[in-house]
Amino acid sequence: MLFTRKHILDMDSLTPEEITAILDTAENMKEISERPIKKVPTLRGKTIILFFYEPSTRTRLSFDIAAKRLSADSISFSAGTSSIVKGETLFDTAKNLEAMKPDVIVIRHSSAGAPHMLSKIVKTSVINAGDGMHAHPTQSLLDMMTVREAKGKLEGLKVSIIGDISHSRVALSNINGFIKMGAEVVVSGPPTMIPPGIKNLGAHVTFDVDDAISGADVIMMLRIQKERQESFLFPTEREYSRVFGLNKKRLSNADPEVLIMHPGPLNRGVEISPEVADGPYSIILDQVTNGVAVRMALFLLLAGGVRNDDD
Ligand code: CP
Repeated sequence: MLFTRKHILDMDSLTPEEITAILDTAENMKEISERPIKKVPTLRGKTIILFFYEPSTRTRLSFDIAAKRLSADSISFSAGTSSIVKGETLFDTAKNLEAMKPDVIVIRHSSAGAPHMLSKIVKTSVINAGDGMHAHPTQSLLDMMTVREAKGKLEGLKVSIIGDISHSRVALSNINGFIKMGAEVVVSGPPTMIPPGIKNLGAHVTFDVDDAISGADVIMMLRIQKERQESFLFPTEREYSRVFGLNKKRLSNADPEVLIMHPGPLNRGVEISPEVADGPYSIILDQVTNGVAVRMALFLLLAGGVRNDDD
């Protein structure tokens, strides 16, 4: 299919055909990272700005590596070392970035909606690298790529997402994405961390983690996002780990072909035990590897052709 979308802002706006096109392109891109010389000239002369208002390890590095593997020039800057600390607004920062003629701006921001706002201010393509508690579409795409690679399909799978659903942009994007691709999504965790409206997105809810694990093809564990909680929504981490954490004993009741995922960063010993995180069912590091391929695919699809700025 002809990929005509200009921005990647959330999973809601992508069609199943567009998601499939991105995953297929990412599969092709993956081979480049396995070559002795991991670089192709495809995006030579293109400029990509990585604009991170929040800390990141995986997302920021993989966007940077993806740009470099395609020979684009990537420039990275963070809020703390920019004129934002002197009071410059997002609007003015965006207009100044645009004046330097980048081809793609990647933005992570603590405020939900910031990438959408940016996409209306600038003519450049915008990719959302995570906005507040709203969306993290590239994480969802790399998660879907990793599951599709391991299972050969997405349709019909039971995907259980367990943990702090309320504060997780990864959960929201994956609920949207996996359901759109025909999977069944179950969410589980403490009632204080599951928003009441989540069923409206089509996800099933259970507060019993063992129920969520039973028969699951994929178990995705989420970190408790303490930085987004006004008060801790569970008595102690130890208690949380005992009732909602994934450990070897709990995993013994899971499907023998189950895949264990986590977007990172891990809180080992809280939502996931080290032996499960590093065990034979874990595909956590495959997610990271595929993050580079998905981000290469997005750069290629958004900046690889000749686009009219008014598109
Ligand atoms: N998964 C994820 O977004 O990780 P980072 O915060 O390290 O980018």
